[in-house]
This record gives sequence, structure tokens and C-alpha cells, in this order.
Amino acid sequence: MKILVTGGAGFIGSAFVRMAILETDWRVVNFDKLTYAGNLENLLEVEDSDRYRFLHADICDERAVEAALAEERPDAIVHFAAESHVDRSILSPEPVIHTNFRGSFTLLEAARRRGIGRFLHVSTDEVYGSLAAPLEATEDFPLNASSPYSASKAASDLLARSYFTTYGLPVVITRASNNYGPYQFPEKLIPLMIANAFEDRPLPVYGDGMQVRDWLYVEDHCRGILAALEKGRDGEIYNIGGNRSLPNIEVVRRILAATGKPESLIQFVTDRLGHDRRYALSSEKLMRDAGWRPLMDFETGLSRTIEWYRANAGWVARVRSGAYREYYERNYGQRSVR
Ligand code: NAD
Ligand code: TYD
Repeated sequence: MKILVTGGAGFIGSAFVRMAILETDWRVVNFDKLTYAGNLENLLEVEDSDRYRFLHADICDERAVEAALAEERPDAIVHFAAESHVDRSILSPEPVIHTNFRGSFTLLEAARRRGIGRFLHVSTDEVYGSLAAPLEATEDFPLNASSPYSASKAASDLLARSYFTTYGLPVVITRASNNYGPYQFPEKLIPLMIANAFEDRPLPVYGDGMQVRDWLYVEDHCRGILAALEKGRDGEIYNIGGNRSLPNIEVVRRILAATGKPESLIQFVTDRLGHDRRYALSSEKLMRDAGWRPLMDFETGLSRTIEWYRANAGWVARVRSGAYREYYERNYGQRSVR
């Protein structure tokens, strides 16, 4: 089996590439543009494998996509590449729409022309929008995206589905909840709070901190994608949730407790625009059809993640380049303390 993975230098994509190289005998081609979120350091463990190849290219570049598929002839495409951060999508929606929608279109078109055997589109629970408790989205829930990020993911998710319905391209879609774990770029809640706590810097909690997210350890997500890739049915959608819902403030308090830092570091700041209150998923279908379930409990996963960031301070320092500081200032500088 030979797979082409897009976005394999990012947080989840690199975990997936490491898993595919270390736990299968597949050949893996990693097709990644190396945006601010792409980092080849995430792949040091596998870069010397003769079953691994890195291609530095953009999914919006039709010729580069065509050339990669013509040369490598993959059996399957696993499509992670995206602009993945809601706050950045609010500050600058254009690159988000371009990569997430146009880039997915370019890949789907090339896959259709080549007759690729399976196209796994990595989507998100954010496409369902905010759900009132105790609702849990099943795969047939209506799409109700709120941010430019989630709208771009919903649009590409629908487009991927249309390539199955219209052209019979063997598409499988996965919709996962919030991931956490090693190598996550420190712009997302958990790694940002860990990195700030280590340095005794304020922990900026949006609004009242009572927004609820369902936390999924990144390796559980990758196993879910592998299960959907191998056992999923053409044209089907599979939710992948962590089955662990917590309000943000509770997550932040746990990080402070685990790092031995005081709660006085918490700063309630101006809320995110259009902030979704609660995401919740049912993953029954993937459990039933593919025998998958999340294995990591949140307490162990969080403490492993904190230990990884403690042991990899150099990685954090390198990704927090000048551009990161610029983003931090743009996103947080304007947020007054509430
Ligand atoms: P990330 O931001 O860490 O990584 C994105 C990767 O895509 C980077 O390596 C980047 O260089 C690459 N990329 C960006 N634009 C590209 C382009 N035009 N061409 C080629 N490569 C490009 O993202 P992540 O958190 O690992 O998320 C991966 C996927 O999983 C995304 O599709 C995201 O929507 C989805 N997802 C993420 C979460 C989460 O909690 N992070 C949850 C559910 C679904
Ligand atoms: P995030 O990690 O950006 O994921 P998503 O928006 O895709 O769910 O944010 C998770 C939650 O944490 C979300 O409700 C927003 C909140 N949040 C903060 O309160 N402060 C922060 O600095 C960040 C980055 C997020």
C-alpha cells in the first residue's frame, strides 16, 4: 500500500505519518507546503526510512499535485493539509478559504482524473456548529458552521462528498473533535496554556471559559483515521470523538495544577467573535463499523502532553519565531482583560 498524505508536517498529519511508517509496511509520501504550522522536526523519527518521502508543495498548485500523483501513483490520499486555527481565520480569512476549499478541490479533481482508490478527507466536529446539551452530533446532523475556518471545512467536506455522489470517487470523511498531544503548535488552547504556564505568563481565557470541547488524544485520532481508511465504506462519514467533554476553564485549571502554577495566572479576556459554546459528538458509527474506540484517558494524555512540552522546550522556542510573536500580538494585544 502506498499513501499520499497532505499536511504531514503539521500536528496531526505528522503523528499519522509516524504511525503509518512505524506500525505498517506502507510507503508514505508527505505532501506539505511547510506553512508556519508545518515543521520537519516533527518527522525526525521517520525521515530516514526508505518508505518515507517528503515533497515540498502546495495543494492549491494543480501541476504539483498532478506531478506527485503521476510519479507516486498512490493507492490512497489522506488529506490533512489545512489552515487549521479558528482565531487566525477570524483575523485573516483569505488563506483559510484558499487552502481549505480551493486546495481540497484541486486534490479531489486530480484524484478523480487519476482514479485514486480511496480519498480520506480529514474534517472536524466544528462543521456541526454549537450544540445545546445534551445533544451529541451523529453523522447525519445538519452542518451549521460559525467561523471562517469551520465554514471552509464544511464546504470542503461537502465538496468531497459530492465527488463520491457525482463521480463515484471512493471518498471517506472523518470528523474529529479537538485534538491534543505532543507537537501541537502553541496557538491552540492546550499547548498555548502549557507554554505560558511554564513561563509564568498570563493564561488568556476567552469570555467566561465555560465553552465546552470534547478532547481527543492525537494518537487516538490517527488510529481512528487508519480504521476509517481500511474499514470505512465508500461515501460514508465517521465521527471521531474523545468522549471527554470539559469546559475550557477546567482544562486550564488542570494545566496550572499539573505544572504547579497559581490560578492567579488566569486572565479572562475579550471573547472570540462568533465563539461556539459547545461541541459534542457521537462516535458510535466508527466503533460499530470499524471496532475503533479512544484508548487514552484525559488525565494521562494531559500529563504526557505537559511532560512532552517540558522536555521539548527547544522545539517550542523554535516554533515561536518572530512570526509567532506577531500573531500573538495581533490576536491577544487587542483583547482587554475582562
Ligand atoms: P496544523 O495547522 O498543525 O498543520 C497543517 C499542515 O498543513 C501543516 O504542516 C502545513 O504546512 C500544511 N499546509 C497548510 N496549507 C497547505 C497547503 N496549501 N499545501 C500543503 N500543505 C499545507 O493542523 P492540524 O491541527 O494537524 O490539523 C490537520 C487537519 O485536521 C486539518 O484538516 C484540520 O482541519 C483537521 N482537524 C484538526 C483538529 C484539531 O484539533 N487540531 C480537529 C479536527 C480536525
Ligand atoms: P482552540 O484550541 O483554538 O480550538 P477550537 O477553537 O478549534 O475549538 O480553542 C479551544 C477552546 O479554547 C475554544 O473554546 C477557544 C478557547 N481558547 C481560549 O479561551 N483562549 C485561547 O487563548 C485559545 C487559543 C482558545
